Amino acid sequence: AHKCNLIGNWTNELGSNMTIVKPTPGTIFTGSYFTAVTVENGTVIKESFLYGAEDDQHSDQPVFGFVVNWSFTVSISDFIGQCFVDGEGVEKLETMWLLRAKADSSGDNWKATRVGSNLFFRPNK
Ligand code: BTN
Repeated sequence: AHKCNLIGNWTNELGSNMTIVKPTPGTIFTGSYFTAVTVENGTVIKESFLYGAEDDQHSDQPVFGFVVNWSFTVSISDFIGQCFVDGEGVEKLETMWLLRAKADSSGDNWKATRVGSNLFFRPNK
């Protein structure tokens, strides 16, 4: 199978869209993320910046991590995952994430982190 390529457009099972670009060759990438969902109902969603790194040296199915700094609210998401290519050459990203919200005080720190998973695939268009 060909090397799994992070660059380009991706959609996940929530309907969120992201685009990954590589401004320079190597492990570092940037991109943009348009989430389909938010923690608070009624939030006006805007495109948000992401940056990350992949291990492109040791595997054709690289592991990676990236940070999304949400532009429309006070929270940060970290995603980690791996890019896989199946027998038909179809790419997917299997990820897990942590979402850090702002706690009003240290006493509320315990409830400020959410965890979950997302599967990203290439959009049909
Ligand atoms: C917020 O509401 O605090 C910011 C948006 C968070 C969106 C989360 S990040 C993990 C999950 N995957 C997505 O595509 N969207 C949600």
